[in-house]
Amino acid sequence: MAITIISSNARRQAAACDTALDRYGRVDMPELEYTAEIAAETAPIYEKVKHLIPAIEWPAIAPIVHAINVLKKERNAVILAHNYMTPEIYHGVADVVGDSLQLAREATKSEADVIVQCGVHFMAETSKILNPDKTVLIPDIKAGCSLAESITAADVRELRRKHPGVPIVTYVNTSADVKAECDICCTSANAVQVVESLGAPRVLLIPDQYLAANVARQTDVEILTWAGACEVHERFTAEELREYREIEPDVKIIAHPECPPEVVDEADFAGSTSGMIDWVKQNNPKKVMLVTECSMADNVASETPGVDYVRPCNLCPHMKRITLSKILDALVEMKDEVLVDPEIAARARVSVERMINLKS
Ligand code: 13P
Ligand code: SF4
Repeated sequence: MAITIISSNARRQAAACDTALDRYGRVDMPELEYTAEIAAETAPIYEKVKHLIPAIEWPAIAPIVHAINVLKKERNAVILAHNYMTPEIYHGVADVVGDSLQLAREATKSEADVIVQCGVHFMAETSKILNPDKTVLIPDIKAGCSLAESITAADVRELRRKHPGVPIVTYVNTSADVKAECDICCTSANAVQVVESLGAPRVLLIPDQYLAANVARQTDVEILTWAGACEVHERFTAEELREYREIEPDVKIIAHPECPPEVVDEADFAGSTSGMIDWVKQNNPKKVMLVTECSMADNVASETPGVDYVRPCNLCPHMKRITLSKILDALVEMKDEVLVDPEIAARARVSVERMINLKS
């Protein structure tokens, strides 16, 4: 079906990462003692990350992993971690890992007093919207997202004025303010289903123009969208994927639907981050390229022995703000707390719950 991209006056990109982090965020780690007890307790975790973390580095990392896991129990906290978290977070301290949809669903089930969201700010806001009475912490409040920064609540009100009667679906990668102005949320895992659930001939699907274009090709619903983009996925090009295929003819290419449609065209499969992980586990390819954020391949590699991961990948500077030492600080000092204005949260909750309650 046809797609129309509505351009914002000024494209607002998320602030660039201003911290000096290495790929695994290890430069700012506190020195804690590595005892025999900690070595034994963290040995099963090291087994899962030993393909990435040299043995000589583990004595600096293991005590922080251990301290987080102890403190988490004392605080009755749960750690919800996105699939883009680094391996020591994903395998070492997370209670739940998943894509945006799974994390939102898990946030509704948690009985913990405290949710520590290891992901970006809109994910923590979604947890707070769904759990107004719980304490929601994010280890770095500056962990943003170029999509969430690309549109404001005022922009959505203007869209509503210009397109009366057209339902507005917002990607979950938006602020609570934006969610509050929309009819329903979606994620990359359910965008087609959400759009079609509305029974309308025309739908505004905002703010990711590429997700919208990829959805438009799978439905008869006419899609209007917004000129937002993920700064990580829009950098991939169809040409580079074709070059990789020439060098590695037997490689399977799996792409995230935030990539431009011509990139998705080059892929053997496109899906949410968890959809990509499931595809690799089910199909067990010899060689695979995950056209997405770099930690995905790192995390899934330990669960898929025999699969060879071919680069390229791109780092998300916002996701990489979340480090083990910041998670420890978050639990020690109970910071940074994520708060959402109750009136905004109540309206945003309607959008998020409509999505969660859709039958899959
Ligand atoms: P998923 O919902 O597929 O995990 O995507 C979230 C995201 O931010 C991808 O860039
Ligand atoms: Fe946002 Fe892209 Fe980073 Fe996901 S990968 S959090 S969409 S900037």
